[in-house]
Amino acid sequence: MNVSVIGTGYVGLVSGVCFSDIGNKVTCVDLDETKINNLKKGIVPIYEPGLKELVVKNTEEGRLFFTTDLSQAMKDADVVLIAVGTPEKETGEADLRFVEAVAKSIGENLDDYKVIVTKSTVPVGTNRYVKSIISEHCGHENFDVASNPEFLREGSAIHDTMNMERAIIGVESEKAGDILTELHKPFNTEIMVTDIETAEMIKYASNAFLATKISFINEIANICEKLGANVIDVAKGMGLDARIGAKFLQAGIGYGGSCFPKDTKALVQISGEVEHDFQLLKSVIEVNNKQQRVLIDKAIARFGSLSGKKVGLLGLAFKPNTDDMREAASIVISEELVKQGASVKGYDPIARETAAKVLPQEVEIVSSVNEAIEDADIIMILTEWDDIKNIDLEMIANLPSNPVLFDGRNCFSLDEVAKYNLEYHSIGRPSLI
Ligand code: UGA
Repeated sequence: MNVSVIGTGYVGLVSGVCFSDIGNKVTCVDLDETKINNLKKGIVPIYEPGLKELVVKNTEEGRLFFTTDLSQAMKDADVVLIAVGTPEKETGEADLRFVEAVAKSIGENLDDYKVIVTKSTVPVGTNRYVKSIISEHCGHENFDVASNPEFLREGSAIHDTMNMERAIIGVESEKAGDILTELHKPFNTEIMVTDIETAEMIKYASNAFLATKISFINEIANICEKLGANVIDVAKGMGLDARIGAKFLQAGIGYGGSCFPKDTKALVQISGEVEHDFQLLKSVIEVNNKQQRVLIDKAIARFGSLSGKKVGLLGLAFKPNTDDMREAASIVISEELVKQGASVKGYDPIARETAAKVLPQEVEIVSSVNEAIEDADIIMILTEWDDIKNIDLEMIANLPSNPVLFDGRNCFSLDEVAKYNLEYHSIGRPSLI
């Protein structure tokens, strides 16, 4: 099949590359000329394990193309995927500016039948709106729109796409349903064909539910600390019940990234528009905002004042295996530390450049764990990268500054830490003093 993908952000690029890898001819379109020229040379704008290799392989094998020319890319396409960004407005609403602009261009270039698929996360009803924009600009109705939401995670995006657990296809015609079912067959996955509004809602409901699991376990963690229970074992015990499931029950310093924070706020907004007060989801968001600050509260409880304290932050990205800093807890934490008068050094194996752009200027970004912690009074683990999980605890225990370790991602077992003369505070577990 011939597929065009408009927008080479995370979702667009990964989907395009994976659709080409299973044998389709894929053309990825973006307005950003530098990005497209780089992609043609195999230079990938984001850090995502395995992505660069697949870009190079599929380009060399003649299945993957990059262009800034949308009309050219539309010519032979059977399926056109819209994968442009839907940033968040001040109100929490999704900003549909880019989707609208693309729909207009598609309409202007639509000669024969194609299925126009929205992959971007868009409010329920957007596909119908996209349809109206397209037909206004092409003057006919010889096309179908469809919703095909994306469920990949940053850091394991290629794996998640190639091994997708389900493909959700929201359509209003059998023809479009058949074409998209055919397109997804090689993924050997459960394919669910539904109406458009339901597909749009499945995406929001899935992200909102995962965010709810995280805020729930974080609340349990906060109670565990007061009761002397261990949240890791509580989560394990809960997860043994297949109805609950063990995944997404890792307590920590809350969720960040480009999806959960934005999509939960958007769903509250969408609900409000139909006069439904989504109280549960509002609480999930509120709990997460508090949880991102929990290490600050612990440090203040321990030290009284953080003024003049030297703090080493380990891990800055919103999660491991990505350089994405969007809504990372490290932003909230470092802003607060600077405000409290602490001096802060931050280390991340991959996200140093992206972090430097968004963290307060006062934060010194360093290029090794050792530099971040050598003279620290306080060490905070914010992201569970492998090299941080493998850190030598004995070396930390022997540092002359005698640092206190605050682990926001429960990287170590209490038994392991207990072997060293180290003060250790984590999430939802007894402190070791
Ligand atoms: C999330 C969803 O997992 C994907 O299914 C979805 O496709 C994607 O959003 C999207 O809408 O595009 P992503 O944001 O890349 O993917 O990353 P996750 O692995 O879900 O992690 C999100 C945040 O939750 C991270 O900050 C992570 O540290 C945190 N988290 C995750 C926890 O605190 N505890 C957990 O148990 C799991």
